[in-house]
Amino acid sequence: MGWKSLAELDLAGKKVLLRVDINVPMEGERVLDTTRIDRIVPTVKAIQAAGGSAILLAHFDRPKGKVVPEMSLSRVLPALSAALGEDVAFASDCIGAPAEAAVAALPKGGVLLLENTRFHAGEEANDPAFAADLAKLGDIYCNDAFSAAHRAHASTEGLARLLPACAGLLMAEELSALEAALTTPERPVVAIVGGAKVSSKLDLLSNLITKVDYLVIGGGMANTFLAANGADVGKSLCEHDLAPTARAITEKAEGAGCTIILPVDVVVAREFKANAAHEIVAADACPPDAMILDAGPATVDALAEVFAKCKTLVWNGPLGAFELTPFDAATNAAAQAAAALSRAGALVTVAGGGDTVGALNHAGVAGDFTYISTAGGAFLEWMEGKTLPGVAALG
Ligand code: 3PG
Ligand code: MG
Repeated sequence: MGWKSLAELDLAGKKVLLRVDINVPMEGERVLDTTRIDRIVPTVKAIQAAGGSAILLAHFDRPKGKVVPEMSLSRVLPALSAALGEDVAFASDCIGAPAEAAVAALPKGGVLLLENTRFHAGEEANDPAFAADLAKLGDIYCNDAFSAAHRAHASTEGLARLLPACAGLLMAEELSALEAALTTPERPVVAIVGGAKVSSKLDLLSNLITKVDYLVIGGGMANTFLAANGADVGKSLCEHDLAPTARAITEKAEGAGCTIILPVDVVVAREFKANAAHEIVAADACPPDAMILDAGPATVDALAEVFAKCKTLVWNGPLGAFELTPFDAATNAAAQAAAALSRAGALVTVAGGGDTVGALNHAGVAGDFTYISTAGGAFLEWMEGKTLPGVAALG
């Protein structure tokens, strides 16, 4: 904590440099998912209502310090204007003459979007001179980009030291939801961690076993744990060299009072494709020529029982190859079980990171979850117990 909220600062007549994350997926000139744009609207409106004008700073994709026309934020401008219900001005650079002229022309209560901060190498380098050039453009800094808060960049970190700083409404909402999920949760707490590789989630698992009562391991990661326990996993995705690591995590979990839950049955197939012929086998009995593509129905029943015992659930990563029917079945059924408890008010459900939101949308239950984070990497780093530079700089 330690940060100021938007409401604590006097915004009347002020130019607010508002860092947002509108790094949205696009196909041609169409925004495929406007969630990140929609979720910053309340903050922009709050700034306007308090008598300020909003100057939006954002990155788009990874241009690596150079101007890459396809990565211009002008492509996101129409969707931003539509979400806000008003015209948003645009400056062709985020510093220097074009930015200064656009700021000077901005009426009180107006909204201006500055070009991609990552077109300047100083952004990712967190160069103080670049941060100072940004600071010149406004009176107050407001960070509403939780999903970029794991980056110590000029517009997410350096700028917070140069101007009176505060958290935007979305940032505040993300932080309070995440604190309710892991810092001060109602217990018992269950975490679900899925995804392909244990190696990419070692820090996450190590932190979670000290925080949660039940840790469900799903997806390809579960295969590594099953194999470490001596199960045959056939041709499944599996990091056999991490068997000692998996055993060490299991042992440490036992010491910390955390129960690790692995699949008890699995869905196996000979081909990695939708509608491949498949069968359900015990989790330790994958045939040598087959691969595990999903958890089985007995596993889903066991998970539903755990959910019913818990008060809080944190979800990151799918339980199976959810993009291929019917290997989305366990993810869908477990998500629906969690959603039903959430709707009934019995379970606080928080999800985020990578494929998670896509999987919950696919299961048709994202709307029933208590909170869905807009963050990918930042959600993961936060779950790993790491300090997020963008948040720390606000304090
Ligand atoms: C994201 O989409 O993960 C955020 O916008 C951060 O982007 P980055 O991973 O390129 O830093
Ligand atoms: Mg990322």
